[in-house]
Amino acid sequence: MATDVDHPLFARFAALMAASEGPVELDRRRETLVGLSGRVIEIGSGSGPNFRHYPDAVTELVAVEPERHLRERAEQSARESGRPIRVIDAVADRLPFPDGSFDAAVAVLVLCSVPSQSAALRELHRVVRPGGELRFYEHVIGTSRRLAALQRTLAPGLAKVFGGCRADRDTTRAIEEAGFRIERNRRFLIRTLPEVPAAPRILGTARRVL
Ligand SMILES: C[S@@+](CC[C@H](N)C(=O)[O-])C[C@H]1O[C@@H](n2cnc3c(N)ncnc32)[C@H](O)[C@@H]1O
Repeated sequence: MATDVDHPLFARFAALMAASEGPVELDRRRETLVGLSGRVIEIGSGSGPNFRHYPDAVTELVAVEPERHLRERAEQSARESGRPIRVIDAVADRLPFPDGSFDAAVAVLVLCSVPSQSAALRELHRVVRPGGELRFYEHVIGTSRRLAALQRTLAPGLAKVFGGCRADRDTTRAIEEAGFRIERNRRFLIRTLPEVPAAPRILGTARRVL
């Protein structure tokens, strides 16, 4: 086994949640991926809910998924999609690819879960070519003080239940600190009560400038 991410219960929950998404969430996935082309890497692809939303101009998608149960589902989704998708067992913080080997990278609801955001983003910055893009859709720390305080309080306990997922990360800042320039960042709140700790979202595009 190449990785040590093993969350069998959370994996089943994540796959179930992805399979039961409604039209609004599916639109957000499409919005994240619209206009992509060439060779693309997606980290933490889960069961592959993004796969069917990639534009035809994407000539190869490498999907990185370290959790065995989710990877098996992703492999099935890849086969069913009929698209050029390769699913690999690796972690975002050690990507087995040369520098500048992708036109774009995609991170959807995963920068909450990687053990180190800075390590994962440093790797994404390395494998995307200069001028290439990072597309992101993530839940993040809120801008309201009360919500942020609640997220900080709940984050350690939630992480234990939800496969290491942290509700208190400032992902916009981490993307910039990794050397990407943010070109578009749509912020919004999810309005359903059970999702309050993960309510603040960011969706956008960042570019590797150097
Ligand atoms: C909340 S799930 C999201 C899955 C998928 N991106 C989606 O949109 O439904 C978080 C994902 O991050 C993956 N993950 C956790 N640690 C990781 C790491 N170090 N590198 C890459 N992926 C990781 C998990 O296995 C899981 O698939």
